[in-house]
Amino acid sequence: MIIAPLISQKGGAGKTLISASLSVALAIRGYRVWLIDLDPNATLSKVMGIGNPTGVNGALTYIMGFTKSIKVHTATMENNTIANVKVIPPGTTSGINPDGALPSTPVLTSRLSSLINGIGNYRVRPNFVLIDTPTLNPTLNPSLTASLINIANLLILVTTDEPGGSNWVGSLLEYALTITQGRRQEYVMIMNKLINIRGGFDLGARYMVRILRNPGVEAAWRVGSIPYLIKDPELNQFRKAIDELASILEKINAELTWVTQQ
Ligand SMILES: Nc1ncnc2c1ncn2[C@@H]1O[C@H](COP(=O)(O)OP(=O)(O)OP(=O)(O)O)[C@@H](O)[C@H]1O
Ligand SMILES: [Mg+2]
Repeated sequence: MIIAPLISQKGGAGKTLISASLSVALAIRGYRVWLIDLDPNATLSKVMGIGNPTGVNGALTYIMGFTKSIKVHTATMENNTIANVKVIPPGTTSGINPDGALPSTPVLTSRLSSLINGIGNYRVRPNFVLIDTPTLNPTLNPSLTASLINIANLLILVTTDEPGGSNWVGSLLEYALTITQGRRQEYVMIMNKLINIRGGFDLGARYMVRILRNPGVEAAWRVGSIPYLIKDPELNQFRKAIDELASILEKINAELTWVTQQ
């Protein structure tokens, strides 16, 4: 099982968009995915259709190129299941109304550990747990950053080539090393919102996925937009990049399972 927070120290890098799209790409490959929304703003939950039933059938249908519509369950938190994706909103009591709950960082931190510790109680466990996080800074919120790094076996670092978009990566990885102390932890770098797919810089990551800045994605992502009005020949690049990311996660999962079974 992969437990992977999407981390970025700069707001608006694309964590929520990528976690939502990636969950769908993994579900299409037949995996069970938990999508934990740790952002008090609950953007991911809304986009996935919680309290906003058109979310998935609109933006994500368009972005990921579905042909079928997806049934969205909003009855109780346990039933927030979309195909193979289970969405867990940040609210502590009710999953139905993410707008009603704005939990504090300590609440999110303890909620995260009880969620992860509770996975063992499920008869059918997820293959991938993706965690959408609020913008994280180890100096500003050390407890949440440390607990995310602690529970993760994979870090998905979402960067852009805007000013401040990726200079935090080195120090975050150093911080992660002090926490994991030799325990194996993979990381995947995502360079998002690129103007050009070539060029950019090399941070020495084993896995790197590049995603272009795409006006069609941007427009479709605005919850409530009418995505089918947008015609965008470039959209395939986004889908391909997310699919590449899904196959990287699939590979890392297979490797980890192998190592665990030795
Ligand atoms: N590849 C892309 N092309 C075009 N727009 C993008 C791309 N990636 C993200 N965006 C846009 O950037 C904005 C921020 O994306 P998103 O909400 O996923 O970022 P985030 O990292 O979750 O932000 P926050 O820190 O606020 O949670 C959104 O409007 C989204 O549509
Ligand atoms: Mg977000």
